[in-house]
Amino acid sequence: MRTLALLGSTGSIGRQTLEVVDSLAATFPYRVVALAAGKLTPLLLEQVRKYRPEVVALAGPGPQGDVHARLGEPGASVEYGPRGLAAAARIGADVVLNAVVGVSGLTATLAAMEAGSAVALANKESLVAGGPLIAALLDAGGGPLIPVDSEPSAVLQCLGTAGERAGLARVILTASGGPFRGYTPERLATVTRDQALAHPTWKMGPKITVDSATLMNKGLEAIEMTWLFRLEPEQVEVVIHPQSIIHSMVEMVDGSVLAQLGLPDMRLPIQFALTYPRRLPTPWQRYDPVAVGPLTFERPDPATFRCLQLAYEAARMKGTAPAVLNAANEKAVEFFLAGRLSFPGIAELVETCLEGLPPRPVSSLDDVLAADAEARRLAERLSGRLSLRGGGD
Ligand SMILES: NC(=O)c1ccc[n+]([C@@H]2O[C@H](COP(=O)([O-])OP(=O)(O)OC[C@H]3O[C@@H](n4cnc5c(N)ncnc54)[C@H](OP(=O)(O)O)[C@@H]3O)[C@@H](O)[C@H]2O)c1
Repeated sequence: MRTLALLGSTGSIGRQTLEVVDSLAATFPYRVVALAAGKLTPLLLEQVRKYRPEVVALAGPGPQGDVHARLGEPGASVEYGPRGLAAAARIGADVVLNAVVGVSGLTATLAAMEAGSAVALANKESLVAGGPLIAALLDAGGGPLIPVDSEPSAVLQCLGTAGERAGLARVILTASGGPFRGYTPERLATVTRDQALAHPTWKMGPKITVDSATLMNKGLEAIEMTWLFRLEPEQVEVVIHPQSIIHSMVEMVDGSVLAQLGLPDMRLPIQFALTYPRRLPTPWQRYDPVAVGPLTFERPDPATFRCLQLAYEAARMKGTAPAVLNAANEKAVEFFLAGRLSFPGIAELVETCLEGLPPRPVSSLDDVLAADAEARRLAERLSGRLSLRGGGD
């Protein structure tokens, strides 16, 4: 039986992954050998009792209360902090599915690859901040690295498992446009946290939901695509597609365009990553083209959604610039959710951090973590100075 280490098991992707694991039990069974989450919540306790992993990793620095007694699972070793997360990633599972949110997932992605596990990657921040490091491991024979994100999964599915990458000319990366599609910059200044958290087509964790509203999520995915499919930023074009049925398209060198379609349901790319390169039946609702109706496309508005442009600028700057972009964005989203920053303040904070911290080359994890820490410190300092409060409710 294949083994799975699931990092971020209590989040949106983590919970759906366990649904997929249950649904594959008869056809493609997995034994869950490690679970990692931020906190010891009732949901994590339930997961530990059901899947009986060998390792449980918690984000905190050490035990708070009698963790073992609460877990009621004498066989499981409990690990803490970044080292605990890396220990879960390094357990030697056949597949490590990384669904942690934020750059804390990067060390785990590298640890899993170094341990020889296949990595199913939902944590796009790993590739954004640590793209050169992950690419070097892949070039040295590490992997496979299978994207869980629906858009790069769509590209992988279009290219075929044998990989027609030599014939790939560009990627057309689709975006729903988020809840503020069609807004003017003036109207954006008044939006609230609850409005930003109400995504029209996908149900996701809070950070990625805000990223979808600013279109930073598309920018992060564009950077993710450049590393996964070895493309220049100019070869990834973002197109707004409000129905979220086409998850991305590829244009081949002869001009032929291939697309992957399906209802917006993350269980599909999760299952594809878990059974890769095989395809197995799923019991979920199917796409009915007539019922869904017309599929439409429009260009993103770069003046209103600055974050998308900033991500492209960081991708072109290379080196530590994408790590700075990512860290500044993580802080900006945290401030916005806490009511400390207005919605337009997210782009303003990210832009100021990118301008203030010129890119340096990346040759080690320390280079990335140093740039990440520097950007977080600068974002903290700026947040006090920028009079950007408002919008939060
Ligand atoms: N949701 C989607 O549909 C979707 C689609 C494509 C890609 N993604 C990507 O997948 C990742 C996860 O997204 P999500 O929406 O599932 O996020 P989420 O709902 O916020 O879940 C994040 C999970 O990671 C855990 N976690 C956070 N920090 C951790 C740490 N330092 N160590 C161990 N566990 C930690 C959280 O535990 P606590 O809650 O206890 O902190 C939670 O289990 C993100 O990178 C996102 O961009 C998500």
